[in-house]
Amino acid sequence: MKGKTLVISGGTRGIGKAIVYEFAQNGVNIAFTYNSNEEEAKKIKEDIEEKYSVKARYYQLNILEPEQYKEIFKQIDEDFDRVDFFISNAIISGRAVVGGYGKFMKLRPRGLNNIYTATVTAFVIGAQEAAKRMEKVGGGVILSMSSTGNLVYIDNYAGHGSSKAAVETMVKYAAQELGEKNIRVNAVSGGPIETDALRAFTNYEEVKAETIKRSPLNRMGQPEDIAGACLFLCSDKASWITGHTLIVDGGTTFR
Ligand SMILES: NC(=O)c1ccc[n+]([C@@H]2O[C@H](COP(=O)([O-])OP(=O)(O)OC[C@H]3O[C@@H](n4cnc5c(N)ncnc54)[C@H](OP(=O)(O)O)[C@@H]3O)[C@@H](O)[C@H]2O)c1
Repeated sequence: MKGKTLVISGGTRGIGKAIVYEFAQNGVNIAFTYNSNEEEAKKIKEDIEEKYSVKARYYQLNILEPEQYKEIFKQIDEDFDRVDFFISNAIISGRAVVGGYGKFMKLRPRGLNNIYTATVTAFVIGAQEAAKRMEKVGGGVILSMSSTGNLVYIDNYAGHGSSKAAVETMVKYAAQELGEKNIRVNAVSGGPIETDALRAFTNYEEVKAETIKRSPLNRMGQPEDIAGACLFLCSDKASWITGHTLIVDGGTTFR
């Protein structure tokens, strides 16, 4: 994978940051986005360039404005000579999810629509721009982050869980239509992973204890657990896997 380029949204924290490090360690150049955390983005860029001798650049993106991807990809064209992998990872939290993160009877159009935009529409627009570049280099791999919250009930997760179900279906459609360009499209569905997004859950301690109890491996998921799955799916070892959702849940979903 050395010398190839990954474009990933939300590279400054949690799962996105772990993916950035995993790919950089494997010699992949990294174009990543941040939203509010420019200082952290700069630190990560400098750190991976120094440690792994790869090229890294960061760009500001608000996934609630998915059309921003068009401008960002134009900048990426100037900074990198190719795009091989695209991972739609960023997720919104805080005020943007009010009315979307909550009980079914409290769901409201604005919060729900924001979560759908951040999860599905941002995936579509980012993947379209990435696919145009991948076509030029003979193929590539597109991934969307998903969550087992569309397989098992999670408190307050109706907005996110239903949007993740939608993005998994979008992944299957994209895989069918992009296969002829040698572009594979998959989703990685995580069980509860220890990140800021999960710590923001009102019942975080409860979720953590329950996850450890449910997993036959007796521990919470870590961002690196997801990053390894992403690296595999982007590698040639996964060359006939497309339109698939790989579940990385420490065995919790079956329990
Ligand atoms: N944590 C879990 O348990 C879990 C489980 C399964 C799947 N997932 C999925 O994995 C992905 C990453 O989750 P995470 O837990 O790593 O999240 P996280 O720790 O909250 O990190 C979120 C990332 O998204 C960026 N971001 C926030 N608001 C944004 C916006 N409006 N526009 C663009 N970027 C924005 C942040 O950038 P700044 O730092 O610059 O603000 C940050 O890099 C998500 O798709 C999530 O649904 C998570």
